[in-house]
Amino acid sequence: MRTNVVIIGAGPAGLMLGRLLELAGVDAIILERRSPDYVLGRIRAGVLEQGTVDLMERAEAGTRMHAEGLVHRGIELSFDGDRHRLDFSDLIDRTVMVYGQTEVTRDLIEARQSSTVYEAEEVELHDFDTAHPRVTYRQAGKTHRIDCDYIAGCDGFHGISRQSVPTTALTTYERTYPFGWLGILVDQPPVADELIYAHHARGFALCSQRSHTRSRYYVQVAADEKVEAWSDARFWDELRLRLNPETAEALKTGPALEKSIAPLRSFVAEPLRFGRLFLAGDAAHIVPPTGAKGLNLAMSDVAALADALIEATLEKSSAGIDAYSAKVLQRIWKAERFSWWMTSLLHTFPETGPFGRRIQRADFDYLRSSHAAQQSLAENYTGLPW
Ligand code: APR
Ligand code: PHB
Repeated sequence: MRTNVVIIGAGPAGLMLGRLLELAGVDAIILERRSPDYVLGRIRAGVLEQGTVDLMERAEAGTRMHAEGLVHRGIELSFDGDRHRLDFSDLIDRTVMVYGQTEVTRDLIEARQSSTVYEAEEVELHDFDTAHPRVTYRQAGKTHRIDCDYIAGCDGFHGISRQSVPTTALTTYERTYPFGWLGILVDQPPVADELIYAHHARGFALCSQRSHTRSRYYVQVAADEKVEAWSDARFWDELRLRLNPETAEALKTGPALEKSIAPLRSFVAEPLRFGRLFLAGDAAHIVPPTGAKGLNLAMSDVAALADALIEATLEKSSAGIDAYSAKVLQRIWKAERFSWWMTSLLHTFPETGPFGRRIQRADFDYLRSSHAAQQSLAENYTGLPW
């Protein structure tokens, strides 16, 4: 088999890249290790920047998002029960869209017309440092080979693409946090119209949502915490303790549809191009979820990569692919900074003690008193320019 681009991974990054390429007339095959049901069963983030909304439209996959997504003008921050609302519309004339990553993935799968190979095992990348890269995989006991011009590694943090690069060619930057997020999905109306990010001495909590009838809540837990130790009742009790009393009172609880713990990590690999292999999305970087940047960053990567690969394939110009890594890394590091900062402001850090909490309080008070600080948060949260 032969194609222009082999895309490894059918998460949001791989699916969006595939869709943009197919619309431009560039041939691509997506190889995904899992089944479609597995891919659609993963519960992930849910806040889209305007740039991601625009990209869904460009991908001709935005109809359901516009019908069912919720436009949010702002968020609420809470610190030991003291509340502050940030109105992004008033501050910088921008909004965000609440629409689940699972739905984004579903819409992109439905929009796609070209072939996606699911349950592709033992995917291997070959010769991407030459002009003739190829990818092999196994399916139903048979080995297949695809010759291509370019390979896009969109296979997430644990994928094979980044691992295929010689370690000497790669520099990685990483910070792990001594905690994770325990999340619950529940069929109950959200406790508030907008998201609430809450700092509390017991730890961070987030009240998020998927629709007017489905809510997503998180509490910060220790990194080694086991989900089995958290009954639904224990979760709701802990969440209430971390919210201000009126919000805690208004919380509507119910049986968890899903409950899981995600570790928090900041990670960047550099560079993002190795000959004819390009990394994008979680394969290239991880942000802690506090700034809602993971999905949006993956989308801005592939928007740039799609343009570069289209230019390389149709116009035979390497300008875009030559510039790709440096260009997207600039934006990646700004999103890393913002996600790290939001995480630092809102979580409890066992090692920083009372001094650390006073600094966090000062950060919150400064934010409440400074229009410029509020605009800065709003700019970053709603998305820096693509
Ligand atoms: N071969 C083929 N596919 C693979 C392999 C492999 N060796 N390893 C992983 N994959 C697949 C995974 O099964 C997954 O479907 O690659 C896909 C990667 O998808 P994601 O992990 O969702 O990563 P990405 O598309 O970059 O999405 C960005 O934003 O909200 C954040 O972390 C969240 O997933 C989200 C991300
Ligand atoms: C979510 O709804 O899952 C969500 C929302 C905002 C975040 C992180 C996760 O910052």
